[in-house]
This record gives sequence, C-alpha cells and structure tokens, in this order.
Amino acid sequence: MGTVFTHGITVGATAATAVTLAATLVALPPASLNAQDGLYTPAQAERGTRLFEAQCVSCHGELTAFVPEVAALLGDHTFRNRWTGRPLRDLFELIQVEMPQDDPGSLSPSDTADVVAYILSGNRLGAGDTALPDIPAQLTQPLFEP
Ligand code: HEC
Repeated sequence: MGTVFTHGITVGATAATAVTLAATLVALPPASLNAQDGLYTPAQAERGTRLFEAQCVSCHGELTAFVPEVAALLGDHTFRNRWTGRPLRDLFELIQVEMPQDDPGSLSPSDTADVVAYILSGNRLGAGDTALPDIPAQLTQPLFEP
C-alpha cells in the first residue's frame, strides 16, 4: 500500500474495452445478452453494495472510481488481467476465505454471493432474473471472458 500508480495505462485499457465491447455486441445475434450478463439479481447487487460500503470500502475504495492507492476491484488493467478466464468460484472463495482482511471468514455464503454480485455490477456486467448461486462449485463462468 502507499504505492502510487500512474493513470495512463488505465485510460488506454478503458478505451480498448469499449472497442472490444462494441465489437462483441455487433457479433452477437440481436436478442442475445453479453455472455457475462444476467448472472445475478438486482437485489443481490443492492445488498452487496451495503455490505461493500460497510466492510470493504475502507481498504478497496469505491468501485465506481479507480483509486490508485488501494487494491482496486474494478475492471482496471491489473484486476482484469488477474481474473480473465478464471472462474467466479475463485473470486468467491478468495473473498469468503481471506476477506475482509481484518476479519477473514466472517462472511456467510449468501453475503459473499451478494458482494460478488456487486463487484460484477461495478464491472458493468448486467443483472438478470436468476440469482448468483452461493455454492462455489456452481460458479464455473469466468469473471472476464478471455
Ligand atoms: C483491512 C483491509 C481490507 C478489507 C477490509 C478488505 N480487503 Fe480485500 N484486500 C485487501 C488487500 C490488502 C488485498 C490485496 C491482498 C493480496 O494481494 O494478497 C485484498 C484483495 C482482495 C481481492 C483480490 C483482488 C485482486 O485483484 O485479485 C478481493 C476480490 C477482495 N480483496 C475483496 C474484498 C471484499 C469483498 C471485502 C469486503 C467484504 C474486502 N476485500 C475487504 C484488504 C482488505
């Protein structure tokens, strides 16, 4: 902590992401969703927001803004590189076992699913009608498509 990163690479990554997204949308059949959309419900993300504000924001900063000094959980370059192609199960288990770092293991499975849903929403993945399961073995989808 305390290391200050420069913003240049982040701006570039955001522009590249926008281009990729546009290309993906054009390539899909008209009614189809982004493959990563619809993995959680709006209610989960809402509960996850409150949980994040209470237990995570002190170390991670807001999801809505990139804060260089903290361990950002946004789709910034570092976070995206680390999680591209890795199943949501890994993110779920990391959070449940290691976070919050000052009280690890304190989140229930359903709290963990809520906060994962919030992280998905913060990374601009859309909500849907089906809740994100709170059983890690069922979370086989990658957080970010390779
Ligand atoms: C006391 C400070 C602290 C709190 C509170 C905290 N974290 Fe963390 N978290 C960290 C640090 C520091 C890291 C980086 C640790 C590492 O890389 O080993 C981290 C890493 C992570 C990562 C992995 C990030 C990555 O880029 O792969 C996730 C996901 C995460 N935390 C989620 C959460 C969630 C969700 C909460 C709230 C329930 C939370 N954290 C609360 C300090 C904290």
